[in-house]
Formats: sequence, structure tokens, C-alpha cells
Amino acid sequence: MCVMLAEPLRTKVWEIADSYYSKHDWAHGRSHIERVLKMAIEIGKQERADLEIVELAAILHDIFQNREAHASIEGFRHETEGSKEVRKILAKLGLADRTVDAVCHCIESHRKRSGRTEPQTIEAKCLFDADKLDCIGAIGTIRSTFVSFDHKQEFYKEVDDIEAYRRRNIRQDGTIIDSALHSSNLEYELSLKAVANRMYTETGRRLAKERAAFMDEFYDRLGKEMKGTM
Ligand SMILES: [Fe+2]
Ligand SMILES: [Fe+2]
Repeated sequence: MCVMLAEPLRTKVWEIADSYYSKHDWAHGRSHIERVLKMAIEIGKQERADLEIVELAAILHDIFQNREAHASIEGFRHETEGSKEVRKILAKLGLADRTVDAVCHCIESHRKRSGRTEPQTIEAKCLFDADKLDCIGAIGTIRSTFVSFDHKQEFYKEVDDIEAYRRRNIRQDGTIIDSALHSSNLEYELSLKAVANRMYTETGRRLAKERAAFMDEFYDRLGKEMKGTM
């Protein structure tokens, strides 16, 4: 089942997507979308998913990410609001209800934070895994640094008691209370380290294992260099 999006629909969807994504945000903009799309299609082929659904969902999955990150609207979740927006976009393009529902489910369930919708379909699992793979490995390491700088955080912070820090600065749903206290290495310790164990597909699990090993080694070494012991 190797059917991907047909033209001119693909061009039209990218045109719409581009009006939402920043060209210069390496962590969440167009370049993240292109990486996730490639990975989601690769996983989708292995897992025999409907590639048309996977492609549409990957291109549109983060259209409201920027709004959530920078508009600070209380309770705004880009997976929920983004999925509502995508429903309108796809309906306007005249896509079948079944396709729209399937794409929207992928988008609604792509987030790893608690209180979210679980991915139920193979297409949603492909998007989830592809999106999370972009948080780890060499890409994840650069991306995490990028996000730290974007939020004007230190790249590296030493804390004596990581669990005490978690209680003080991380809410139950995983969101950060005071962004200024956070850093790239704390994000790795408290969130990214666990990502590889959250994969839904066999392909995702295999790739995540390799990426996680690289990232573990990087942050271990970084810690030693920062302490001056290496
Ligand atoms: Fe997202
Ligand atoms: Fe994403």
C-alpha cells in the first residue's frame, strides 16, 4: 500500500502549511516538518500504513505549535487546536470525511505530554514515532539547544537534586513553570531521556534505541566537560 499524495493536492497542502510555519525555526518550523515527514513515510512503509494519511498529517501536524509556544494563551494546546484548524482546511479542499477524521486523529494524538489522546491507528503511531525521533539523537541534541536559546535559557545547568527540581518547576502535565530555570541538559534528564521508551512501532523502537544511545553519550560527556573532569 504505497500510495502517497497526488498532485496538485500535495502542492496545495504545502502552500497552506507554509503560511503557518516559520522558515527560520529549525526546531519547529518547516525544517522540522520536512524531517518528520521523511521519517513518518519511512516508518509508514515498514508498518504498511496508509501513506496518504501519514503524509497529510505529517505536513500539517504542528501548524499551531508557534501559537502555543509564543502566544502564551492559557490552556492552548497545539495538537487540539491544530487538529480543529486542519479539519477546516481539509474540508475546504474537499477531502472525504474518512480521510479528514483519520488525519485529525493523527494530529490530536501526536503529543507526548500527559492528558493527551493516545494514538489508536497505525498512521497516528507512525506520526507520533517520527515526531519523537526528531527530539532525540544528533538532531534532538541540536534541537534541544535551539529551544533553550529560543527561550533565553542557559544551555547547561547543574542541579543537586533532579527530583526536587522536577517538583519545583515541572507541572503534572509536563509543562515548565519558570522557563528561565530550565536548560537543555535538564530537558534531556527529565523528558528526552524517556522518549525512546515511548515508541509505538517496531521501526520507531529500533531507530529510537540507536538515537538514544548517541544522546546519552553526548550529555554524559557534556556533563564531564562542564565539570572540568574531562
Ligand atoms: Fe507538535
Ligand atoms: Fe512536531
